Amino acid sequence: MKQWIGFAVAAILAGGCTPPEVTEFSATLIPLPTKWEKASDESLCITGQWNWSVDPSWEVVSPVWQDWLQVDRMDSHALAVNLKVIQKEGLADEGYELRVSKEGIEVFASTETGAFYGLTTLRWMMSTEVSGEVALPHGLIQDAPRFPHRGLLLDCCRHFMEPEYVKRMIDLLALHKMNVLHWHLTEDQGWRIEIDAYPRLTEIGAWRTEADGSTHGGFYTKDQIRDIVAYAATRQITVIPEIELPGHSNAALAAYPWLGCTGEQMEVPHDWGVFKDIYCAGSDSTFAFLETVLDEVLELFPSEYIHIGGDEAPKVRWEVCPKCQRRIDEEGLHDEHELQSWFIGRIGRYLEAKGRKIIGWDEILEGGLPAGATVQSWRGMEGGQAAIAAGNDAIMSPTSHCYFDYPVESTDLEEVYGFEPVPTDLQGSGRILGGECNMWTERAPQHLVDSKVFPRLVAMSEVLWSQPEQRDWSDFRLRMERHYSRLDAWGVEYGWETVPISMHWNAARTKTALEVQFEPAMSGIEGVATYVPYRKDAPEASHSLGELFSVVGEGEIRVELMRKGISMGTPWTFPVAGHVGAFQSIELDHEVNSYYPGRGEQGLADGRLGSQDFRDGSWQAVQESDMGATIELAEAVHIDSLSMQFYRYQDAWIFLPDSLRFQWSMDGQVWNGDWLLGEATFGEATFIPNDSQDVARVAVAVNAEAKWVRIEAVNPGLCPDWHDAASSATWMFLDELVVHTNHH
Ligand code: ACM
Ligand code: ZN
Repeated sequence: MKQWIGFAVAAILAGGCTPPEVTEFSATLIPLPTKWEKASDESLCITGQWNWSVDPSWEVVSPVWQDWLQVDRMDSHALAVNLKVIQKEGLADEGYELRVSKEGIEVFASTETGAFYGLTTLRWMMSTEVSGEVALPHGLIQDAPRFPHRGLLLDCCRHFMEPEYVKRMIDLLALHKMNVLHWHLTEDQGWRIEIDAYPRLTEIGAWRTEADGSTHGGFYTKDQIRDIVAYAATRQITVIPEIELPGHSNAALAAYPWLGCTGEQMEVPHDWGVFKDIYCAGSDSTFAFLETVLDEVLELFPSEYIHIGGDEAPKVRWEVCPKCQRRIDEEGLHDEHELQSWFIGRIGRYLEAKGRKIIGWDEILEGGLPAGATVQSWRGMEGGQAAIAAGNDAIMSPTSHCYFDYPVESTDLEEVYGFEPVPTDLQGSGRILGGECNMWTERAPQHLVDSKVFPRLVAMSEVLWSQPEQRDWSDFRLRMERHYSRLDAWGVEYGWETVPISMHWNAARTKTALEVQFEPAMSGIEGVATYVPYRKDAPEASHSLGELFSVVGEGEIRVELMRKGISMGTPWTFPVAGHVGAFQSIELDHEVNSYYPGRGEQGLADGRLGSQDFRDGSWQAVQESDMGATIELAEAVHIDSLSMQFYRYQDAWIFLPDSLRFQWSMDGQVWNGDWLLGEATFGEATFIPNDSQDVARVAVAVNAEAKWVRIEAVNPGLCPDWHDAASSATWMFLDELVVHTNHH
């Protein structure tokens, strides 16, 4: 009722405004502003026509804003609303105040950036699902960001993105008050920045030959880069280029083999990984090259920071390179880790002398953190914490919350929203500058990038801008729901917030099966769940959503979703195993790894099988340790066989176990079952091509009664000599210990 009165008063004041409702600040804004106060129940009717005035010294603000608010001239229409952008001292650098009163709208800021964000807020207040006229309550917003660094990493190397797409992403970042585009421009799989002194970087290094023989690639000319950097600047976005060193540099080595330790000719790789060929740290020509490249980079990018990568640089070439070893001697270094630190430090000093600062991934801590370097923490939060402890600054982007190349199964919107960039036990004099979302693109060519970045970036924008005590998931969810109409209007091809299906998994009463129920987790959705057994002679069975049904044996549940009878994309699939061990008591010999918990303690006996994606949340993993699990069945049964799935992806350091054994027992004391060694276990799979990525299944015949079953898998040790990460600790990925009983 109050709102209606507010609207009526507004209609009288503004002479004929008929919006359906007053749009409250708190219902419509993301990120939520620091403070807002309603001055009265009156409101201002926005007609879309403005008497626009802006502080004359702020040239950047006005052209972009005249465009965004669709005012292409000073309008002195009778119904126009006064909009004044006014300089006011004493506000935070990026802060602003926005006052709505019957005189119109005033945006106060001490900087152009603050004014820009005030106007961004106004744009959000205008563009809701309410089209046409909008009524804004009289009141005051006071706002400033929590963190100064609010970024998105775009990997334009694994897959190239068109300049127009990059600019559109810059617009979308600005609309969410994000202020950093971390532009990943050099990689193993592609060099994307034109360098005059070294033309082969883009002639050779920008192109990869795919497994099917086709070519993928592209690069940005200097003019395109200048255009993008300027475009970003007018939207208050700093573009920070990343020039990776000493690792992730195969594209450069393919163009100029003398940059590597061996000097051997190589190809631009067509799949991602961690490769052992990196820049030679012993050769002075490497540094002459990098300094020339960086000089050209600095001309294009005015950013205070330059990202120099530093992650995932195997040391195997350096260990045997005479030049690298001589450098270690001459510089009095202890090992190759200190050589890496020396390498980063040397480049850091070069950039510092030119007035810039470096950011590096958390590996730059190894062998000693160079003074003044900012650490981007990605392998958890620890790297950032160590940097702060050392008095350096940090940017947080842990894989747990910030990797938007991961599927929503492992990082959904609510998880991103729950990200807290500041650990509670922080010690030291460094600062957390903020955070970034990382969009790596080996599995996401340009046409998929929107669906990975959105809506998750919207949640991150609030994490990085708003105050932590304002964080409220259910309130955010309501604002997010309204925000989709804006994303639609801006042409964003957003993906899912989460798996849109809620699932119930349980042991079935019959004991030999799994009981499952799938329901839509959003309103307005209907669908069908079909169980497709792997055994060809078993029939498929379809069930409507909400129906409880049982699954016997191994197969896949496909859930097709529809809205108003129209299919909503490809079906969601869930590999399953209906077996007698599902949801029985299980004990693990290993600790559940926090990165790959695989649904925790019960994960190896929960009826859900790991899929082709090792980040699907089902796979349970360990690094450098053995695995073991014991299931106690409800009662002794006749067991036909036992099986386990292993993931193998050697480029990602995921190997099959060295050996394993399945065992079974009637009493939990006396066990049957022998060790299986590599070759016997895996048959033809003893050699796996470098980029193979698949699921290996191992089974043993049992043909006996048992009440207890167990598996032990021995870790495969260090990555072997031929591997690009030779001597790094391998991972093992398992799921699930399936107990096969008669008839299936
Ligand atoms: C990274 O994801 N390798 C920084
Ligand atoms: Zn070398």
